[in-house]
Amino acid sequence: MVEADPLALLNDHAHCELKAAAMGQSLIAKNPSFGSLIDSVPHVVLEEMQHFVQVNAELRKRGGELGVQEPSPYADGLHQGAAATRTSLVLDRLVLAHLIEARSLERFDLLANHLTDRSLAALYEELLPSEAAHRGLFRKLAREAYGDAAEARIETLGELESRLIAGLPFAHRVHSGISVR
Ligand SMILES: [Fe+2]
Ligand SMILES: [Fe+2]
Repeated sequence: MVEADPLALLNDHAHCELKAAAMGQSLIAKNPSFGSLIDSVPHVVLEEMQHFVQVNAELRKRGGELGVQEPSPYADGLHQGAAATRTSLVLDRLVLAHLIEARSLERFDLLANHLTDRSLAALYEELLPSEAAHRGLFRKLAREAYGDAAEARIETLGELESRLIAGLPFAHRVHSGISVR
């Protein structure tokens, strides 16, 4: 299971936080007239960078060093799959952010509850409220700008996301398939 290699998990997780911050910055830069997004997403970016600092500190405390992140079949599959039926890039970015936050939250909750390493579990426990708020915020922004089309897209891309994660092999990563052990 994922606990067998906490350094690999933490390295992958640290990169996920960086990507979340970069995604937020890109949303801000490309949607300067979307007032509620401009008001809220900078705070998400700051929180994701704070999470990066926490996760990287945990990695180093355990004798690890930040390395590169392996290519992510999860993220690549989501973006490629969404592009095939896309009507709005902004809507898809908001919906994918919502779905990725939701899946991260699910994984962090599992880690917080099941890791036997309680100090690592405590880190995941601490991150839960913030990621839950991000999940809700991106859904709210999508609904505000796109109405019912947002819910329809959440359903379509949610099915894609579920299929994708079910088909991935297990890895010591935040977004991998499940361990059979
Ligand atoms: Fe985060
Ligand atoms: Fe987040």
